[in-house]
Amino acid sequence: MNEIKILSPATVANVSCGFDVLGFCLDNIGDEMVIRKTKVKGIKITKIEGYNLPFETELNVAGVSALAMINDANPDCGFEIEIYKKIKPGSGIGSSAASAAGSVWAMNELLGKPYNATQLTAFAMKGEALASGSEHADNLAPALFGGFTLVKSTTPLQILEIPTPSELYATIIHPEIEIKTADSRAILPKKIELKNAITQWANVGSLIHAMHTNDYNLLSNSLNDVIVEPHRSKLIPHFDSVKSESLKTGALGVGISGSGPSIFALSKGKEKAEAVAQAMKNVYSKTNINFNVYVSKINTQGMKII
Ligand code: HSE
Repeated sequence: MNEIKILSPATVANVSCGFDVLGFCLDNIGDEMVIRKTKVKGIKITKIEGYNLPFETELNVAGVSALAMINDANPDCGFEIEIYKKIKPGSGIGSSAASAAGSVWAMNELLGKPYNATQLTAFAMKGEALASGSEHADNLAPALFGGFTLVKSTTPLQILEIPTPSELYATIIHPEIEIKTADSRAILPKKIELKNAITQWANVGSLIHAMHTNDYNLLSNSLNDVIVEPHRSKLIPHFDSVKSESLKTGALGVGISGSGPSIFALSKGKEKAEAVAQAMKNVYSKTNINFNVYVSKINTQGMKII
């Protein structure tokens, strides 16, 4: 195999209480990428469609992660990368992670899979760092492993796969304003109160327990973020209304997707997720901000060959 076309999925990071550690993978929302082996060594980005992103390998997140991988693998070939960008950069559903993870996942397939998903995540973190200024893996891990993941630690990199209750669906609203991850990280406090930390780690622990036991009530009670959301929600117009209307409609929980501006909800069953989509639309229809809404099953596979 000399060429592969993939769908590199969008992802939701943080999942309310799990800032920088939790994430899950969306279905049928993602970037398409074509990766091709070349005789000439090195990485060359030959096509970018959809959004205006740099062609220079060292300035492109897909290029940087690909370079990290070939520096380690030293293959006797090079690679060309074509990026058909569907996920808007700065939308909060893992746009940079999809690029960074997609190139290394596809190259690994073409090389006969010498690396496991954790090793691929480590290469992709180099690309993610270029976009956000920090080497976090909470969008990368769900894109590469599928389903829900928990980044137990980054040094050494350890990723845990969390089981997904089968009736869980996500609803995403993406208001078309841009929030740069670096900016929305800069507004966060460097120190937090012990009482908030206690609430937050209790929520993370109980959320993981709920996922293992298919306990939708506990899952719902755990989807609370007392540390990051109070700061970042100020950057997202109508966040409070989207949240309250979605919860009123029966969503299990609602929060900021990654660093925003997208907002996610989790619901039990597709019908409920679609009702939540309508509730979100109703809020934003009354504003002059353009938006997109998606309903998605949790993608337990991750990357797909298309
Ligand atoms: N955990 C990251 C953040 C995800 O919230 O800043 C966005 O890249």
